[in-house]
Amino acid sequence: MTSTTVEETRTKPTTSAPLSTRLVARESSEDGSALYPDYLPFYDPLEKVDDLGNFEHVDPGHRADPALPNLLANATRVVDLSPHVGTEVEGVQLSQLTPEGLDELALYAAQRGALVFRNQDFSDIGFEAQKKIVRHFGPLHVHGWAPHPAAGSSEHMIIYDHRDDLRVRKSWKGRSPVQWHTDQSPEPQPPGTTFICMLESPPTAGGDTLVSSSVASYKGLSPRFRKRLEGLTAVHSNDDGVTQELRNNGTGAVMRRQQLVQEHPVVIVHPVTGEKALYVNPVYTKRIVGFDDEESDYLLRFLFDHIAKRQDFQCRIRYEAGTVLVWDQRVTNHSQTLDYPAGDRRHAFRLTPLANKPIPAKVEEDDGECAKDHARVQLGLC
Ligand SMILES: [Fe+2]
Repeated sequence: MTSTTVEETRTKPTTSAPLSTRLVARESSEDGSALYPDYLPFYDPLEKVDDLGNFEHVDPGHRADPALPNLLANATRVVDLSPHVGTEVEGVQLSQLTPEGLDELALYAAQRGALVFRNQDFSDIGFEAQKKIVRHFGPLHVHGWAPHPAAGSSEHMIIYDHRDDLRVRKSWKGRSPVQWHTDQSPEPQPPGTTFICMLESPPTAGGDTLVSSSVASYKGLSPRFRKRLEGLTAVHSNDDGVTQELRNNGTGAVMRRQQLVQEHPVVIVHPVTGEKALYVNPVYTKRIVGFDDEESDYLLRFLFDHIAKRQDFQCRIRYEAGTVLVWDQRVTNHSQTLDYPAGDRRHAFRLTPLANKPIPAKVEEDDGECAKDHARVQLGLC
């Protein structure tokens, strides 16, 4: 009788083909043209758009069945990407969801922060059908300067990076592309349940989105420090983005809307789950109201570092063509990565429903939070 040792098995080559021929490439066209030409970016420096103004927002998550029967009826696999944020769902086609299924999508996105759906037909159903689905979550935001498709639809925000259009990549020249933020937090009613649909990813790896739970970021602070934050407000502004757009693109700069400045609570409550979340980010949050400059800088620097460094509160979203990310901006921060070679094509669109005016967390002298935190009780930290 012959036997094979573990060592022999390990050293045996499984194939003679070199690794480079076996590395899986993502979907692309044979002639190198964009897979979705109708979604190529269009910049019109003369375009103007009015602000939406105040509106009543009733979150679809309020109507959802917590058992999620309409959302997950056809799910074949549901995998959490990390304990605190991110879940990947297989077997569900977003375009086929009923209104009840979309309500449950809002609730599940609020609970898990980010949901990843693979092999979607969402990119092939057309602008109007895409917008109809996403409008279920709120009126659609129009970005102040980011491009929309040449073929129409100013609500579609095009994300495009390729050697034939390096406008976005150049805007990151000389600084880290990793910038944690909540999209459009200087809006009076910032975004809620948001969609990114990937049309084409760089050929090999790269272009992931980093997502951080701002519920976990908040809970990761000591109860006494959390109380100090509750009741504070901060000023959010898109001044830096406006300045960069004007500086980088000169007469070709797009300025569709007025600059935005808004005061929001530092700790907010999600309207459906009731979870408290840290609502500051280094891209848009400028100062804590009522603090002197040095005090504000000191506190915000700590909070920004806390969001960025706590990788145990984060997950990473890898995309293929046909991947749709649905995430709730009220309970997360996120960042791009831009880690693939300059010139490779990354092409996506974002549809961004606006939601509620941020709800401040109530200040309570003794809310019993520390006693409920089993880990802290075990360690004698209350
Ligand atoms: Fe973003």
